[in-house]
Amino acid sequence: MLINSPHCIWTVIRIGAILLLIVTCGSYFLPHRYDAPPALRIPSFRVANLTETSSTFNKTVVAFWQELASAILTAQPLCEPLKVLDESIHHPEDHFDPLEPYRKHPQRLVDFTDDDETALLRAHYAMRRSALHLAPKLAFAKGTTGIVTTADTHYMPVFLVSLRMLRRTGCNLPVEVFIDDWSKYDTTTCDIVMPSLNARCVVLSNIYNKNKLVKKPDHYQYKILSILFSTFQHVLFLDSDAFPAYDPSVLFTTPPYTTHGLVTWPDFFALTVSEHFYHIAGIPEEPASARFSTESGQLLLNKDTQRESLLMMVYYNYYGPEYYYPLLCQGSHGAGDKETFVQAAMAVGLPWYQVRTAPGALGRNWNGTFRGIGIAQADPGLDYEYGLPMRSHIHPGALWENKDLAHPNAKIEKALNRTRIAPRKPRPVFIHQNILKLDPGKVLKDKNDITFEPDGTMHRMWGSKEDMEKQLGYDVERRLWDVIAEEGCRLDQGSETCKEIRAYVREVFGWMDSIDRPW
Ligand SMILES: *[C@@H]1O[C@H](CO)[C@@H](O)[C@H](O)[C@H]1NC(C)=O
Ligand SMILES: *[C@@H]1O[C@H](CO)[C@@H](O)[C@H](O)[C@H]1NC(C)=O
Ligand SMILES: *[C@@H]1O[C@H](CO)[C@@H](O)[C@H](O)[C@H]1NC(C)=O
Ligand SMILES: *[C@@H]1O[C@H](CO)[C@@H](O)[C@H](O)[C@H]1NC(C)=O
Repeated sequence: MLINSPHCIWTVIRIGAILLLIVTCGSYFLPHRYDAPPALRIPSFRVANLTETSSTFNKTVVAFWQELASAILTAQPLCEPLKVLDESIHHPEDHFDPLEPYRKHPQRLVDFTDDDETALLRAHYAMRRSALHLAPKLAFAKGTTGIVTTADTHYMPVFLVSLRMLRRTGCNLPVEVFIDDWSKYDTTTCDIVMPSLNARCVVLSNIYNKNKLVKKPDHYQYKILSILFSTFQHVLFLDSDAFPAYDPSVLFTTPPYTTHGLVTWPDFFALTVSEHFYHIAGIPEEPASARFSTESGQLLLNKDTQRESLLMMVYYNYYGPEYYYPLLCQGSHGAGDKETFVQAAMAVGLPWYQVRTAPGALGRNWNGTFRGIGIAQADPGLDYEYGLPMRSHIHPGALWENKDLAHPNAKIEKALNRTRIAPRKPRPVFIHQNILKLDPGKVLKDKNDITFEPDGTMHRMWGSKEDMEKQLGYDVERRLWDVIAEEGCRLDQGSETCKEIRAYVREVFGWMDSIDRPW
């Protein structure tokens, strides 16, 4: 038929094309003699120097840093460095107690005079004014979201475990890992392993040293500098030993991040800020028992809405060791940067949100006492929605209870004949394994008390599988050890480290998981 003939011709052409395709493509699937691609045949092939690219800062960024650094140096406090009384002593008032709302801020500064305080106030005011002028010039790539961390050589293996845990959640956000300088740079890690996990190394000294007058940064100061110099607008900062239990991308799209632009997490202890900090910053005092102090293993920050806060954070950390660390954290519990984030937002009048759900201790019972090795931190979205009650004389409990949903009149409640169930406590999203570091090459070597009983029996770190599944939805510890094995066996499947980890995994997650255990 006339109508059908073009159709027939097309069919023949199609079949022909398909045959051709099969012949051409099929040859790829036929057995071949293996020919290595040219790159692999050259003994020392060149790797693209990705770190050099990611550590190149453009003129805008360099000019901004020059201005910020000189503003910081101009706002140097003109008084002697502060001293805190008996820093190492554990004070009972460092215990957080919301039922004592009128507790005073601890007074532990030694020989602190009004003159010192005035000098600090003037310097602070100078920086506050500079921050207002500099804020519009802050350089970042608008609309970008990513994760930032710092890792020196010592923490790099720990970080690679965290990074793999992050990727196992399905999170694809780019990661920038700040290293101090080129002496900490390792080609394999930075230019091969990291890029394969959508992460890249950034050498901080490349930008920081563009100003010759600033002091070399110290331990705690790297965190805020890495946030400052990361290219992302929306930043999740994670310590190298912290990782999420599920994909954290969603945290950027929900309150409190979208409403506040700065989200922090609580530590186990009370605030130990000196009242003088508030005088110096010229802001009202925050009650000592208003909230827990901050645990800065994780932090969310929107550089666009928190510009001035970010610049004040840099200032507090730059003058941290001499002035602001003693002012902001007088306790024995982790002096350092932890209190510089919320206080900076307060000082410039910007919003901030600290997760109210208390941190959870990860660890296990060992010879009759609990041994904590890590911290579990709640999902901020769930925390915001849950709206944890502040404990008080009419609501001494720390969580919402079924009875809080009851009709105020007991008779009516009874007649209503119903039971309303209080919402579930917010589940954790971040795990900050800050005590027992998970360096695959070391974690099992020293026969630590957590993974081994005194008699040598191997053991889980965080208690039972059932508890873990109930709290986090799946056995995170099991996944963690798979990842430790992956990282520990990456270079050499036959290494002692690899064998040791695999033996531990087999023992603890193999047969031990299948029996009723006494713990
Ligand atoms: C990458 O560049 C930096 C700085 O220019 C250099 O120190 C480093 O050795 C380079 N790495 C490689 C693998 O060429
Ligand atoms: C310089 O870098 C910043 C941050 O990565 C970026 O936002 C900006 O657009 C860059 N400026 C120029 C002129 O390339
Ligand atoms: C376990 O605790 C008991 C009593 O508290 C103590 O006597 C013993 O030395 C502890 N064992 C180890 C191995 O620390
Ligand atoms: C309350 O409700 C339950 C089921 O919803 C019913 O079995 C029970 O009889 C009711 N009690 C009263 C006192 O109405």
